[in-house]
Amino acid sequence: MLKTNTRRQFFKKLGAATGAITIGSWLDPINALAIDNAFERILAKTPEESAKDEEFWYWVRQSYTLNYSLVNLNNGGVSPQPRVVQEAFENFNNMSNEAPSYYMWRVLDKGRERLRNSLADFAGCSPDEIAINRNATEALDTIVLGLPLKKGDEIVLSKYDYPHMVNVWKLREKRDGIKLKWVDLPMPIEDKDKIVSLFEEQFTSKTKLVHITHIINWTGQILPAKAIAAKAHERGIEVLVDGAHSFAHLNYKIPDLDCDYFGTSLHKWLCAPFGTGLLYIKKDKISKVNPLFPNVEIELDDIRKFEHLGTRSFPAEYAIKNALDFHLNIGPERKHARLSYLRSYWTDKVKDLPKVKFFTSQQDEFSCSLFTFGIDGFSPAELEQGLMKKYNIHTSLVNHEAVAGVRVTPHVYTSTKDLDVLVNAIRELAV
Ligand SMILES: Cc1ncc(COP(=O)(O)O)c(C=O)c1O
Repeated sequence: MLKTNTRRQFFKKLGAATGAITIGSWLDPINALAIDNAFERILAKTPEESAKDEEFWYWVRQSYTLNYSLVNLNNGGVSPQPRVVQEAFENFNNMSNEAPSYYMWRVLDKGRERLRNSLADFAGCSPDEIAINRNATEALDTIVLGLPLKKGDEIVLSKYDYPHMVNVWKLREKRDGIKLKWVDLPMPIEDKDKIVSLFEEQFTSKTKLVHITHIINWTGQILPAKAIAAKAHERGIEVLVDGAHSFAHLNYKIPDLDCDYFGTSLHKWLCAPFGTGLLYIKKDKISKVNPLFPNVEIELDDIRKFEHLGTRSFPAEYAIKNALDFHLNIGPERKHARLSYLRSYWTDKVKDLPKVKFFTSQQDEFSCSLFTFGIDGFSPAELEQGLMKKYNIHTSLVNHEAVAGVRVTPHVYTSTKDLDVLVNAIRELAV
């Protein structure tokens, strides 16, 4: 749709959405003209074509406050915020400090419903299905601990789910006598039907819920959440999706996954302030879930009952809107295409090195930015240290089940030159 827009329409659109051009808005007039031209050019391109337009992505990079002495390829853990988000946070924080109880509770909090509407619009669901909270852990724990389950009920989950989520399920197993049924997945796996059947094999008449990690943090493997959900729903099994790594990374709306419950952090791929997250519950399921922090004054079927979190950082919460605007400025489709392109860019250059082993698929259906590799003769710790000590490349060490390597996660500000540094390092280490 953007392709047919004129530049004027595009900037009008940005202005309407954000009140300001968020990418590079602080730049001097010469640079502003350059960014204007870069935007104009990519509007005529498909997302795949614009994924390779290094000049456009250079301007996106300029929107961040990076330390160029380090190549940060661990954006999976938590992402940096663009300058506009940092500034919004600081402004809200400064204002709050003038009189916290007044500015946080009486001024900033007036914007809560507007923020909810914006998030719901982006996520493709009703505002009555979105609760704003602090992170994916809080969102997912709310479901795991809040669902009414009894002894003998079964939950299907995978050995590659996030450790905190595995632990909270184990707590319910210990406390309430529910049974956990484990799916084992080969890594990588490029057979959608096989993945679905591995989950389906664990379903029984006692299964109440399936826990699906949409993008597995250890390897970046994308699971076909919708197809697994379809099989679960055929049997009346509910679906919980851990979208910590897929939200604002892959281009989808929450209802596309056909899940009942969904949790994500917003400080990962959306680049919102640290300590921000989102919980989605399908409207007709809200009343059955007990909030972690109850408030009897809120109706049982009101999603706001999950926002009774006590005092927290309202400045962080309200700057989520600035991160969302920044994301929409880039364009979710264009961002998804760029992240896929960056993955292909570096993995294609090292895939034929005999000592290099991939734990992630190179196919777009099964991976995007997150990618895990190993080198024969290196333990994960040695590889992570080797990349850091000599090349100043920051990655994440992975040693879980059958995966032993390091995970690499570029973000929208990562340049192909950064990835050339990685490629060069792998070539030198994998001799
Ligand atoms: C798959 C997955 N789920 C949940 C989480 C928890 O996210 P947070 O620490 O932001 O709550 C993470 C964190 O990396 C994750 O990778």
